[in-house]
Amino acid sequence: MPEQHASRRLSPRAAPGGPVGATPTVTRRVLLAGGAVGGLTLATGLLAACTDPGSHSAAGHGASGHGTGRTFEAPTPVTPTADQRVVERTLTAKPVTLDLGGPTVPTWAYGDTAPGPLIRANAGDLLRIRVDNRLPAETTVHWHGIRLRNQADGVPGLTQDPIAQNSSYTYEFAAPDPGTYFFHPHVGVQLDRGLYAPLIIDDPHEPGGYDAEWVVVLDDWVDGTGRDPDAVLESLRAGGGPAHDHGSMGMGGMGGMDMGPTPWGNAGDVLYPYYLVNGRIPTAPDVLGAKPGQRVRIRLINAASDTVFAVSLGGHRLTVTHTDGYAVQPQEVSALYLGMGERYDVVATLGDGVFPLAATPFGKSGLAMGLIRTGSGSAPDPPVAPAELAGPVLIGSDLKPAESSLLPVRRPDVVLPVVLAGQMQPYTWTINGGTFGRNDPLVVQAGQRVRLRIQNQSMMTHPVHVHGHTFALASSGLRKDTVLVRHMEVREIDFDADNPGSWMVHCHNAYHGEAGMMIELAYRG
Ligand code: C2O
Ligand code: CU
Repeated sequence: MPEQHASRRLSPRAAPGGPVGATPTVTRRVLLAGGAVGGLTLATGLLAACTDPGSHSAAGHGASGHGTGRTFEAPTPVTPTADQRVVERTLTAKPVTLDLGGPTVPTWAYGDTAPGPLIRANAGDLLRIRVDNRLPAETTVHWHGIRLRNQADGVPGLTQDPIAQNSSYTYEFAAPDPGTYFFHPHVGVQLDRGLYAPLIIDDPHEPGGYDAEWVVVLDDWVDGTGRDPDAVLESLRAGGGPAHDHGSMGMGGMGGMDMGPTPWGNAGDVLYPYYLVNGRIPTAPDVLGAKPGQRVRIRLINAASDTVFAVSLGGHRLTVTHTDGYAVQPQEVSALYLGMGERYDVVATLGDGVFPLAATPFGKSGLAMGLIRTGSGSAPDPPVAPAELAGPVLIGSDLKPAESSLLPVRRPDVVLPVVLAGQMQPYTWTINGGTFGRNDPLVVQAGQRVRLRIQNQSMMTHPVHVHGHTFALASSGLRKDTVLVRHMEVREIDFDADNPGSWMVHCHNAYHGEAGMMIELAYRG
């Protein structure tokens, strides 16, 4: 069974560009996110300080849906059906100071924590979620992965007007598919603040078959460490930031672990000072408790803006059961990759002791880590990546779909090219030859089976996300809503055009999206 992920492990000599973390041409292009790294950083910091804090990601500035010139009425209220349960919540998006486990950072979050409060419902429930915007900026909330009604999708300029400062907006939608999801803003690079939280849709009829369940959210963190995400974007636009060579850092601090070459080429533009599991740094980790021998389901969410993680649980194998909400043929792995916006559910039978649940940022130095405690013992000090991460790492798109997840077999009615391109200098990322709004929408008709032919013509990996629909990989039928498309790869994805509206198709690297790598999917005729 594990034949495919083992074969993906390239030998160091076979890798065309050599180890990513050690290649100067790669690392020079990576921007160091963090304070006090040279004159350019200082200059950008001053620039940012002189600007109205609300204006960075305000309407008309970015590509994340703004600037279409469209305006919107309030969404049509939804009346629940007779037997439909209503799940009501209020989210307050506001400035907060968070303790990451030592470092404290001023940031923006939903409530007082990042990740924000879990929202949980059953498939078919009506979610009614009021968002109070207490941020010094406009915002929206996007319910990532949910096949919901278009009016609730949270994309300013495509589905709603942005939520102004000190005002509220109520999202009402049914969530049809069980699974692991999350939510985040769709304005500027607000995703790279603390504005994210898990959304779990349960299947009341699912057998379960596990004793405990944890939600584990991965993130890359810069906000409040001397820079905020808007300043990082400004630096990228100004030419990639300080041209420091961090190649040696890329391999250091990992207990001598060879991260080795992997399939992703360049997978990020920003080096972050911190990588987090459930909002905590590795030296003061989130601790998840259970009993030895228990079977736990771990719902892994990559909420990072610019980081692909490789994830493992020290001393354990993981059985992957779902991705992006859909069941797969269970596959046992030592480690797996998570692209930005991807989710994987894994099951593990726990040993007795203390185990690191660790994630390494691909092509960058650092570590994200939580701890699983079932018995006595102490955490590794200093925190190190477990041996499991040095072996083969599963590439999610190599998974096979469960029977229940298959789209009915059908020939595509239309094949639409989606050409990904871009570079660091000037910092521009495009789809079909243009940044968002300058490219022509992908046009489909209701009822069509649509094939998107994604051609990555850049040297970076891009997590491609489709709103309002879930797709099947043409190669295997694997169902997902976000898929990593590696450098120069061509990847075909199929979906049924069964949810009319204006939708986003975009790269889930927050900086790429904001630099243009988005396109509208429009229903016509
Ligand atoms: Cu989570 Cu349009 O994205
Ligand atoms: Cu991208």
